[in-house]
Amino acid sequence: MNSSELRTKFLDFFEKRGHKIIPSASLIPKDSTVLFTTAGMQPLVPFLLGEKHPNGKRLVNYQKCLRTDDIEEVGDDTHLTFFEMLGNWSLGDYWKEDSIKWSFEFLTKELNIPIERLAVSCFIGDQNAPKDQESADIWEGLGVKKERIAFLPKKDNWWGPVGDTGPCGPDTEIFYWKLSDTPIPKKFDPTDKNWVEIWNNVFMQYVKDSNGNYSLAEQKNVDTGMGFERTLAVLNGYTNIYQTDLFEPIIKLFPGHFDERKKRIIADHARASMFLISDGVVPSNKDQGYVLRRLLRRMMVHMRELSATELLDPIKKSIEMYKNLYDLDEDKILLVVKEESNKFEKTLATGLKAIEKIDTINGKEAFLLYETYGFPLEVLEEIRVVESREGFFEELKKHQELSRTASAGMFKGGLADHNIETIKLHTAHHLLLAALQEMFGKEVKQKGSNINSERLRIDFSFDRKLTDDEKKRLEDMINEKIQEGLEVIKREMPKEEAEKIGAESEFGVKYGNTVSVYFIGDKKGIIFSKEFCGGPHVNNTSELGKFKIIKEEASSQGVRRIKAILQYKLEGQNVEK
Ligand code: SER
Repeated sequence: MNSSELRTKFLDFFEKRGHKIIPSASLIPKDSTVLFTTAGMQPLVPFLLGEKHPNGKRLVNYQKCLRTDDIEEVGDDTHLTFFEMLGNWSLGDYWKEDSIKWSFEFLTKELNIPIERLAVSCFIGDQNAPKDQESADIWEGLGVKKERIAFLPKKDNWWGPVGDTGPCGPDTEIFYWKLSDTPIPKKFDPTDKNWVEIWNNVFMQYVKDSNGNYSLAEQKNVDTGMGFERTLAVLNGYTNIYQTDLFEPIIKLFPGHFDERKKRIIADHARASMFLISDGVVPSNKDQGYVLRRLLRRMMVHMRELSATELLDPIKKSIEMYKNLYDLDEDKILLVVKEESNKFEKTLATGLKAIEKIDTINGKEAFLLYETYGFPLEVLEEIRVVESREGFFEELKKHQELSRTASAGMFKGGLADHNIETIKLHTAHHLLLAALQEMFGKEVKQKGSNINSERLRIDFSFDRKLTDDEKKRLEDMINEKIQEGLEVIKREMPKEEAEKIGAESEFGVKYGNTVSVYFIGDKKGIIFSKEFCGGPHVNNTSELGKFKIIKEEASSQGVRRIKAILQYKLEGQNVEK
């Protein structure tokens, strides 16, 4: 199946069921609390809150979306910055029954997916909202087996609001078993990555207010979203999204021997930049303009290594592929790219020369290089080791007047957003550093970190691969600390005192005279971890769930990288509060 078939089938299916096709909104939201449109429902928020939509109560579309959270994962098999989302909505009209039934019918009848390949998850319930048995019953009624229905907590089966307040609710997610050469497991294991989420039906029954309270919405809505590229890839049995006809023409511009990851980054960044410019963004040092600048420059650095290809080719190809679907001003797009390229070319060669003899750069130096030669941080990280990237953002913030939300959305360095999952992973990050030092000695130092709502990442000084046994022991040690229910306490103190008691500080970061230190320890006063840190953290390690290392790899010479997650608890276990 190609992209235009999937697109057309989706729109036709819902049009036949009374939905009006609405055009994709701009990537730049009218509401300025977020930088980009990240989901199909976002432009519809006023209508989800009760305003009358000129096209009625049933809507369907494909929406341009951009998410920067995973910008550094782009180049692997599944992550993108720009993507399209197929969605259908009920604005106070049909509810769970029709929504689930139609999704099921579309997948099994229109796309001919055998029911054996599908599994679903529903919301398990918590203090804010009850368990969504209703959705599960509807799925069962359609023939989905009980063992293919999982109940999961808020982290997995709740959507929204976008930003801090607004419509939100429990969702039911549909998964597809992507392997074709292995038997499909009878039971649905949501942690098995071969079950790929393809569609999300959100039942917007609640509105979250600025005090964090959930109240029942006056109008109950359905919001569904299907990740277009990802669904297309799995339906075709591809192992990665770049094999789809949405990317293949761009990837093909490059010789086969050229580094696969770089080709993918170019393809992703070309598409994203093209759409951003088309929606009125120009490269700058702020907000959306800065994101565009990073995308374009990173693409340019990779293109430079491929002197055979014209810089504008991937952009031109993207325009060609989408011009029948979206309004695109080709001349303007090419002009903006050309201008940015001229600017960057001027300083790029001098900049590369300036860092020729340097292997390692700290955050502050990275910022100076950005100011002088225009290297965005990601570009520098591609070519040199950047230690303590947080320092970069500190400097950047000093030089910019950035709104809080804008900077949170834009810079996923360090601790970018403060949702509860991120906060938990932040505490787990402290436990991990302490555990590493407990096992390998105090010489092990943190060299970098990055936390989002899904995983933590730590870079630390260590000169060899960890054995399976060591990884297991680290996990055990941390899970033990979680089970012990240690208190997490913050104290402000003079910097000298914090240093004297041996609190962990990050190399290369400048601290003020008074610092805050987070202690994790037991009631008897035995301290497991103490770190200079601004927070926030959970109050007690018992809030964390189960700690698991998902990857251990080399980051650079003498620096290893660990990625880890906190696993939710399955039904039957003590569910998170
Ligand atoms: N808003 C939901 C999502 O982004 C469903 O459209 O997944």
